[in-house]
Amino acid sequence: MKIVILGAGGRLGAALMREYREKYDLAGFNHAQLDVANLDDVRGKLGAMSFEVLINAAAFTNVDACETERDRAFLINAEAPGVLAEICNEKDAKLIHFSTDYVFDGEKRAPYTEEDQANPVSAYGESKLAGEKNVLTADDRHLIVRVSWVFGPDRPSFVDAMIKRAQQDEKIDAISDKFSTPTYTHDIAEVLARVLDDWSRRAPGGLGAGRLHGILHFANAGKCTWQEYAQWALDCCRDAGVFLRGRTVGALKLSEMTRLRQGSGGQAPWVARRPVYSVLSTAKYTELTGTAPRAWREAVNDYITRFYSKK
Ligand SMILES: NC(=O)c1ccc[n+]([C@@H]2O[C@H](COP(=O)([O-])OP(=O)(O)OC[C@H]3O[C@@H](n4cnc5c(N)ncnc54)[C@H](OP(=O)(O)O)[C@@H]3O)[C@@H](O)[C@H]2O)c1
Repeated sequence: MKIVILGAGGRLGAALMREYREKYDLAGFNHAQLDVANLDDVRGKLGAMSFEVLINAAAFTNVDACETERDRAFLINAEAPGVLAEICNEKDAKLIHFSTDYVFDGEKRAPYTEEDQANPVSAYGESKLAGEKNVLTADDRHLIVRVSWVFGPDRPSFVDAMIKRAQQDEKIDAISDKFSTPTYTHDIAEVLARVLDDWSRRAPGGLGAGRLHGILHFANAGKCTWQEYAQWALDCCRDAGVFLRGRTVGALKLSEMTRLRQGSGGQAPWVARRPVYSVLSTAKYTELTGTAPRAWREAVNDYITRFYSKK
């Protein structure tokens, strides 16, 4: 099965490249190799290739920058995915496109299902939702995988920033009133491999028999705040013998991020609004596969054991 991955230098794209290298006939483009904002280049380069699956992990992911560079956000996160879907249609190929829990407004207090109404509160969320619609308008057999709070070894994320701060400072804090679920790139890669294998076998009755298309939520199981996430990461580090100065994560309120706009605190100020609660329901995933994602605490512990305890 010939697979092409876009965004191959990103946190998720690089993980997929690494995990699939031995398994599939793989080609990848990082940002420098293919700028998806250049739609002519996208059509030229991908149009000249043959592949059965295109995985789009390229995105303008800086939530605050999307607010101030709205046109660029829509070009990369919305228009480009539509063009990718059309290219896939011409080749009778499937597109797997990643989206986000930030398509929701965060007003719910139970996990969001694929059927829940999206209502983004930021330009990033709006542009990602428009991208989903463009992909599915081109062909509703394509697959959109919404993920949340992605972490992994290929590019630092929140959890790595917290560990780094705890290695430098005794006092660290994180937001205690915003909820979602950390999701390990390794686990996303495993899930997608099941989808790809199923598609390649085209087994009747399996996932590839046309049932797995449209929108699918995938996240590790459970929910937490950023404070709980960071505290668990530090606890895992302590168990793994990683040196830390700070061992307890203090609580920071979402409303305090507004004060950071005036220049206090050690974090970058927020421009965009974020959903307060964006836990994704994985009930559809479990129904389709017969398996549940592993718990986020287990996934974070696995990550820290593998990538920090050896440092
Ligand atoms: N990270 C999260 O917590 C999270 C949560 C929910 C959903 N997602 C979704 O998951 C997917 C993967 O995100 P990620 O975590 O891997 O983010 P990431 O590390 O920021 O990766 C995105 C990649 O896209 C590249 N890119 C940006 N603009 C591009 C362009 N014009 N042309 C080509 N490539 C471009 C980036 O390259 P440069 O860095 O060189 O610009 C980067 O390599 C995205 O669809 C994102 O919306 C992520």
